[in-house]
Amino acid sequence: MTMLAEPVSAICLVKLHPLIGAEIRGVDLTRPLDADAQRQIKDAWHQHTVLLFRDQNLSEDDQRRFASYFGPVARRVPPKPGAKGVGDSPDWHDMMMVTDKVDAGGKPLGSLGHGEMWFHTDKCYHRRPHRASFLYGIDIPAEGGHTKFSSLYAAYDRLPADLKRRLDGTMVIQGQQYGVGRRIDITLPLETTHHCRQPIFVTNPGSGRKALYVASQNSMWIEGMDRDESEALLARLFAIAEDPEIIYEHVWRPGDLIMWDNLACLHARTDWPPQQRRTLRRCTVEGEPLY
Ligand code: SIN
Repeated sequence: MTMLAEPVSAICLVKLHPLIGAEIRGVDLTRPLDADAQRQIKDAWHQHTVLLFRDQNLSEDDQRRFASYFGPVARRVPPKPGAKGVGDSPDWHDMMMVTDKVDAGGKPLGSLGHGEMWFHTDKCYHRRPHRASFLYGIDIPAEGGHTKFSSLYAAYDRLPADLKRRLDGTMVIQGQQYGVGRRIDITLPLETTHHCRQPIFVTNPGSGRKALYVASQNSMWIEGMDRDESEALLARLFAIAEDPEIIYEHVWRPGDLIMWDNLACLHARTDWPPQQRRTLRRCTVEGEPLY
């Protein structure tokens, strides 16, 4: 049955944090959205980086349709064989179950397992980083399991002018290794991990604003520097990008759909009690090469 597109006269927007994030009210994502509603939501996304839609009741198809307004829904890419920290996963199509549930034999029923994850940005280690991610809350623990979003625009804006000058035009090697502590292991042989060189400053195609494109779980080293110099400089940049003042921390409810711009924010999650389970469903959309 073809459903009629949902007309939305004017979206109602409530900011979640002075620098990042807004809640959109009055939109039912189980229905197709007309071109005007899509445009209003896209404009809000460009402006606020992270958008929250509460009280949704989304099937996989609803989530996929909404994501498709922002780009081609991406197929998942399996990690390199033997890669650490990315979790086992039976679902290599376009939807990822982010869950710590296991089957009767103890085999993971999805990806990313249990516990804290440090700041990262999705698929920065591919030539075409995935532009947006869409995460839908299903089973939410009573405590913890929050997702934190830090504004990479605010991080760029806060860089001292001399650092901006020094790093302008510089590239950083971004790699994939999750769930093994704060920092990606920079001694990993590159052939064992997905990785890509990317600009350290990215001008966002949607907002035109510049962002600092580094993450402690992805950024291995800055090109053209020896490892000690790169580590010292990256430590300064991570401190700026992870400053609590530029972070919105989301406390999930079942039925929340959050979408974010991977070129404009980092995300991380907090721990939750070991006896509680947490399940969310994620898809992403493809982006363009950054240079
Ligand atoms: C993710 O990194 O995509 C998952 C974040 C979360 O589980 O909160």
